[in-house]
Amino acid sequence: MIIGVPKEIMDQEYRVAATPDIVALLVGHGHRVLVQAGAGEGSGYPDSAYRQAGAALVPDAASVWHAADLVIKVKEPLPPEYPLLRPGLTLFCYLHLAAKPDLARVLLERGTTAIAFETVQLADGSLPILSPMSEIAGRAAVQIAARYLERTSGGVGLLLGGAAGVPPSRVAVLGGGVVGTWAAQVALGMGATVTVIDVNGERLRHLQGTLSGRLYTAFSNPATIAEATGAADVLIGAVLVPGARAPRLVTADMVAAMRRGSVIVDVSVDQGGCVETTRLTHHSNPTYEVHGVIHYCVGNIPGVVPRTSTHALAHTAYPYYEKLATLGVREALLSDPALAKGVNVYARHRPTSGWRRPWSCPQRRSWGCSRPTRRPSRGQHEGAPHRRRPPAYRASGLGRRCRLPPQRSPGPGAGVRPQGSTPVGLAQGHAQLRREHRADCPARGHGGNRRAGPYRGEAGEHPLLVQPSGRRALSQGGPPLLDGAGGGRPLPPRY
Ligand SMILES: NC(=O)c1ccc[n+]([C@@H]2O[C@H](COP(=O)([O-])OP(=O)(O)OC[C@H]3O[C@@H](n4cnc5c(N)ncnc54)[C@H](O)[C@@H]3O)[C@@H](O)[C@H]2O)c1
Repeated sequence: MIIGVPKEIMDQEYRVAATPDIVALLVGHGHRVLVQAGAGEGSGYPDSAYRQAGAALVPDAASVWHAADLVIKVKEPLPPEYPLLRPGLTLFCYLHLAAKPDLARVLLERGTTAIAFETVQLADGSLPILSPMSEIAGRAAVQIAARYLERTSGGVGLLLGGAAGVPPSRVAVLGGGVVGTWAAQVALGMGATVTVIDVNGERLRHLQGTLSGRLYTAFSNPATIAEATGAADVLIGAVLVPGARAPRLVTADMVAAMRRGSVIVDVSVDQGGCVETTRLTHHSNPTYEVHGVIHYCVGNIPGVVPRTSTHALAHTAYPYYEKLATLGVREALLSDPALAKGVNVYARHRPTSGWRRPWSCPQRRSWGCSRPTRRPSRGQHEGAPHRRRPPAYRASGLGRRCRLPPQRSPGPGAGVRPQGSTPVGLAQGHAQLRREHRADCPARGHGGNRRAGPYRGEAGEHPLLVQPSGRRALSQGGPPLLDGAGGGRPLPPRY
């Protein structure tokens, strides 16, 4: 598979999705990796390191996006990148579609399959690719808050830990997950008094049992939130409902009741924020004031510590890169329920109406192939650079929508039947595997629907199609979710 690693274009986003080590691993597994020149420089990885690791360096983002089957990046595509989205492409990055319905719509319209780092979820409910960034953001949030509490930064002029005879500052943390735990730990380490509020009693019990210092825990409800925010010098928003917009727990009135010069760091801003007065900011202008309270609402906090965060992110995401590239997207999703939960948009193989089979050669690399598709005249081939498949392969009618290899000629030992096995010849066995594959493959029309003509399937039939639930989720303001993936479906036969 061709894997593309473009340079991030978000304001002061210095992370990159793959380090040279990770590129070397992918290349070692037989994949081709295209890295945009300068992609790793912000994280301290020069182009030469990628070249040495076996990557092909390309000069611009368009070259990466157009050639790659799988684009791995850190942050969601921004409007200048929208034209680069296309059918047949799989995008794997942080998406946060719950807070970005426009991007969800663009992805659906453009037919790009999009898998979000932050919704890849293990059976125990943990979010393995979000967690390392949450840990970094949680630790950084307290550092940031301490800086903005200083008078010279416009703050009230408090030291988090106080001093002998002077009480410490009070920090309220909304959400006791990964961000909340690390924020609480760092704030306690700096000597602050910390209150963690969560809906999950287990989380609160765990924090109470593991963290030491001036820690208080409280169940989340409007009264406890109002009390904690009213008393807080620092409020850290760290709430998450996976795949949904963050609940707005802190009202504008609660913000108005906070002390002038106190600080809100709403880490959950990437999911829309849990404070009513939150609006997304960037590193170049990270704060604004409402009712005299400093708001810091940067959506990519780990982006400014890229040496730490790139290393953590790339190594955590690598097993999933490898799985997608080696098995192919569909099989990877069927084989790994955690990865399947990451799918936010699964593009159909083909549109449901008005579609005509392209006048293309059977040598098209995939359905996303954007090469010219005009019908070639007899004996002449438009797609001359394409490799021609062996006749047996073309005759099989395969290769257009699935990648079963051509029937292999019997090798040494063919015809020798292991004891107890059923008496099927190699060719028969192959045909049987192909039949099983057809039965399982979501690309309908195998065998029976080979003529050019409008596609006859219904959208809802596709076992992995997101569109119906995607539409529903979009109209509810949520992200489009996968229908039916991760259900433990058996894998099609592999070769
Ligand atoms: N801005 C950034 O740079 C950045 C970086 C990393 C993570 N984040 C964001 O931080 C947020 C938290 O991430 P996380 O990894 O800690 O998630 P998490 O799932 O580990 O923790 C979320 C916690 O919120 C709690 N919660 C849910 N609803 C609640 C409610 N109504 N009241 C109180 N608590 C509630 C959950 O019980 C859970 O303990 C996410 O939105 C994530 O995307 C932002």
